[in-house]
Amino acid sequence: MRKTRLGFQPPAVGDEEIAAVAETLRSGWLTTGPRAAELEARAAELLEAEHVLAVASGTAALHLALVALDVGIGDEVITTPITWPATANVIVHTGATPVFADVRDDDLNIDPAHVAELVTEKTRAIMPVHLAGQPCDLEPLWALGAPVIEDAAHAFESAYRGAKIGGLSDATCFSLYATKNVAAGEGGLIATNRADVAEAVRELRLMRRGDGSLYDLTVPGYKANLSDVLAAIALAQLDKLERHRGLRERQFALYDEAVAELEGITPLARDTRDVHALHLYVVRIDAERAGASRDDYQRALSDELVSTSIHFLPVHRLAWYRERFAAECPVAERAGDEVLSLPLSPAHSEDDIRDATDALRRVHARFAT
Ligand SMILES: Cc1ncc(COP(=O)(O)O)c(C=O)c1O
Repeated sequence: MRKTRLGFQPPAVGDEEIAAVAETLRSGWLTTGPRAAELEARAAELLEAEHVLAVASGTAALHLALVALDVGIGDEVITTPITWPATANVIVHTGATPVFADVRDDDLNIDPAHVAELVTEKTRAIMPVHLAGQPCDLEPLWALGAPVIEDAAHAFESAYRGAKIGGLSDATCFSLYATKNVAAGEGGLIATNRADVAEAVRELRLMRRGDGSLYDLTVPGYKANLSDVLAAIALAQLDKLERHRGLRERQFALYDEAVAELEGITPLARDTRDVHALHLYVVRIDAERAGASRDDYQRALSDELVSTSIHFLPVHRLAWYRERFAAECPVAERAGDEVLSLPLSPAHSEDDIRDATDALRRVHARFAT
């Protein structure tokens, strides 16, 4: 049993990030400046996209992508219920209606067959999520003809059938939130190969001044730019991407080995044709076979000083959505009761992850017999 609590996903920051922030503060650039521009350039290379725009959050990235694609009142946007509510909230913010498609049972990504059934003449965009870092199946979504905006908050390192997630759809949105693979604390990126989308986002994210009195306004935009202080942290994190991936790979292997022996506890499927970003290690706990519910497991692990999290409760079951939108998503609903995310972070040591797997084994032995 641990003596101190094991955090779920502590940020892996060190002296490099601290030095980068101090240097930025000394440079005088507190708001968007050269570091944000450098982050955009480096991200464009890594994500293999022609344009990358840095914004204030993953949520802002998704919102501005929708606005840039002219999504608004009277439109429908099809999305997945197994996501952080921000994905659906931004659809509501544009005045459009979120339409929830069910997910596939094995990886809990959006089910393209259900999406196809939900397409109407009002469908203005499809917004899938690459849950935990496993790319969703994009080909059949592209085939439906509506613009696709990928929520790639979990998918910085992901590739779909050999092609890097970033420049594949109309827009691809990343989060730099504190727990993400590239963590700035807060922040987001929009990647696109469409010059018109990039230009629209540039206008929308920040009102810029011309020389002297020479400024004008073509669109009532937002204040959604990324500060250089945060961009500097993200740049330091990019330098560590490969090393952190190695650590995540080892942690995934330790979990795979442990859960293989635990009846009723199954990790989400990973497709070997794709590159998984290894952002979250999510298991499903089948209450009947594992001897107790997900909530029982989460409480018991917490008593063992192991923190876990839930990705995600189905959005259409949350009060605001439940009261306004009907959705037929039985697979998502069952999954919402079963998913549990285990501690994962390059800040954790192998011993930390062994503590988590030992605790899981003990809890399972107690419940399953
Ligand atoms: C799937 C998903 N989409 C969107 C977001 C929103 O990103 P942010 O917190 O940077 O606004 C998050 C996470 O935070 C997420 O996990």
